[in-house]
Amino acid sequence: MEPAERQGGRLIVVSNRGPFRFKKVTEGFRSDRTIGGLVSALDPLLRQTGGTWVAWDDEFRKGDPLGSRVKVPLSKPEYTFRRLHLTKRDVRLFYQGFSNRTLWPLCHYFMDRCEFKADQFEHYQKVNEIFAEATNAEAREGDTIFVQDYHLALVPAQLKRLGTRANIAFFWHIPFPPWDVFRILPWRERILGGLLDADLIGFHTRGYVRHFATCANKLFGAKWDESTETLHLPGRSIQVRACPLGIEFNEYEKIALQPETQKQAATIRKHLGTPIIILGADRVDYSKGILERMEGIQRFLELYPRYRRKFSFVQIAVPSRTEVPEYKTIMSSIDETVGRINGRFAEEGWTPIHYYSRAFPRQRLVAHYLAADIALLTPLRDGLNLIAKEYAACKPDDNGTLILSEFAGAADEMEEALIVNPYNVDEVAKKLKIAVEMPVKERKRRMHRLREQTAAHDIGWWRDDFLGGLIGSLGGR
Ligand code: G6P
Repeated sequence: MEPAERQGGRLIVVSNRGPFRFKKVTEGFRSDRTIGGLVSALDPLLRQTGGTWVAWDDEFRKGDPLGSRVKVPLSKPEYTFRRLHLTKRDVRLFYQGFSNRTLWPLCHYFMDRCEFKADQFEHYQKVNEIFAEATNAEAREGDTIFVQDYHLALVPAQLKRLGTRANIAFFWHIPFPPWDVFRILPWRERILGGLLDADLIGFHTRGYVRHFATCANKLFGAKWDESTETLHLPGRSIQVRACPLGIEFNEYEKIALQPETQKQAATIRKHLGTPIIILGADRVDYSKGILERMEGIQRFLELYPRYRRKFSFVQIAVPSRTEVPEYKTIMSSIDETVGRINGRFAEEGWTPIHYYSRAFPRQRLVAHYLAADIALLTPLRDGLNLIAKEYAACKPDDNGTLILSEFAGAADEMEEALIVNPYNVDEVAKKLKIAVEMPVKERKRRMHRLREQTAAHDIGWWRDDFLGGLIGSLGGR
């Protein structure tokens, strides 16, 4: 936190989703902080620097009594939430369209799911301009503007065009694909050029950094210097760093240690009634590999019939982007697959798969982490996967095993997980067997290391390391 203060500048965060939601209550309005790693990292920093958070608020309409600039939290105002209104058409073309039907599948290597439509890209530009103009109006010289994620790739260039004198940092929270994938995007120069006006760009892994640097070289002749993490362009240099996002480790651990959570975990175990509990938890997305994971469970049942009746697989699947057709399809395919596997293997008093298609309150989610002997997290491609870190934080007694896809960014850091190729159904089944039969000593040793690593690189570490880097590299200007 200190560096931003030292520079005298304030922080301006820009993201698609906002930090607060407002609720009408009898005495007026209440503000509730939204749940998520980013908000928990940046909200305290903003409270300290007194800056602004610029974001879309889907509940903000013309004539809203709170207005477009709200001092938050309402109970103790400390910084400004600049709420942006998007029309239905904006949401359809910018958010559901170019963001989630072009950039999202492209960056997750699902080229055949990509839609390339000029009107969606035009709207993406238009909405990025709405964000850039609102941000520019908030920013003063010496401030640091911190833009988030693939929804807002054009904002750095637009800010520069608007003449902003603030420093610009950008964090790309999803994978950055290799050149041969990225190059198919018809607007590849525009997207990459949009980002290259930032002074600092962050990714979760070194692999994504390398992909990005190669794309910048192919499209703009940029030269990458790995030793200084600097990308050189004619007349300017950009810092590009790998800095994986962390979680609120202490907060998760605290909830896991609460007697009420432990009681809930015991109840979950009792109701499931099997000695082994395996857990999957994801936002419903084709990139998360939920269907393939179910096939892995089926293979486990086929290969090792002695484990029938001995385990329960609990899948928590939080509906997401439900207006996007691919997401509707994947939801019904999961329903069908669960039905098919349960129909085939269920016996009196035992069902292999327990499926929840909804979000759980945080304590109930933690109770499930606590109750689970094994977390099976098998995305086909994932920028990082914070659930893996949350699971580790919620195992204070080190008693749990993490099976993690090699295609999750977190696999780079979480070396003591059992790493699996999610496309290889046999391997998933075999890793499950290894996890189930793992001696307690080894299980605890692995989880202990995972927890140390996750605690040391928590959300506060990410914020200070990444933004500290920006201030450090720009401080002399
Ligand atoms: C990913 C993205 C985030 C996004 C989140 C939820 O983690 O990197 O930027 O907010 O998914 O998706 P949604 O479309 O609901 O915001």
